[in-house]
Amino acid sequence: MGCPGAGKGTQSARLKEVFNLKHISTGDVLRAEIASGSSLGQQIAGLINQGNLVPDELIISMLEKLVSTTQQGLIFDGFPRTVTQAQALDEMMMRLGRQINAVVMIDLPESEVVKRLSTRRLCKECSKPAATATQTVCECGGELYVRADDAPESIKHRLEVYRAQTLPVKDYYKNSGKYVEINGNQTPDEVFGDIKNVLEKIK
Ligand code: AP5
Ligand code: MG
Repeated sequence: MGCPGAGKGTQSARLKEVFNLKHISTGDVLRAEIASGSSLGQQIAGLINQGNLVPDELIISMLEKLVSTTQQGLIFDGFPRTVTQAQALDEMMMRLGRQINAVVMIDLPESEVVKRLSTRRLCKECSKPAATATQTVCECGGELYVRADDAPESIKHRLEVYRAQTLPVKDYYKNSGKYVEINGNQTPDEVFGDIKNVLEKIK
């Protein structure tokens, strides 16, 4: 978990390698649907580009398909994002005989968010952010692009939506014994080290 730009994608990409996890970014799944050119994708684009959440039912059924077809350990990036989604995840896990081991919240002050997102460029192939501002292509060779929802107005609205709809999810997990907060306002290596330490204890 974490606000827009907190580093969820950056850290998930590293954690999945170390812990052999399947990385499920709901944002990436939705962007793939948009890229497919489907009519569902067009509806999704209208919501995402403005910085609004897509409906809970759509996300939950999408997740159900991805989770029920693998036995691999999972890392959810950007899910759950509402209390309804958190409740649905609990039900889904119980039904599938699986469990949540940790809920990691990456904390980042809002003042840092705009700085990070207004300069972000992502790879069309591997979805990773470019490591440097001067890079013209991704390390994997893929073309770089700017996300439509990284426009200033969308960033502002995403933060409002985060405060109103996603922050309450923190209370949902706070007393579960699985919830940890990590300082996201450090270098990517430091954030990674802190998360890895937490996950190694429960491995
Ligand atoms: P999503 O794609 O999940 O976007 P987000 O939550 O707004 O977060 P970002 O992906 O922008 O940031 P991030 O935390 O992954 O940071 P990153 O690692 O890239 O969702 C997009 C939209 O899809 C939502 O708005 C909604 O419409 C919809 N959606 C998705 N899930 C949904 C759900 N469950 N329910 C309903 N709707 C849903 O890093 C950001 C930048 O900072 C990069 O450039 C990176 O290189 C840099 N950076 C990372 N870490 C550091 C660091 N430690 N120091 C300096 N720079 C850093
Ligand atoms: Mg992301």
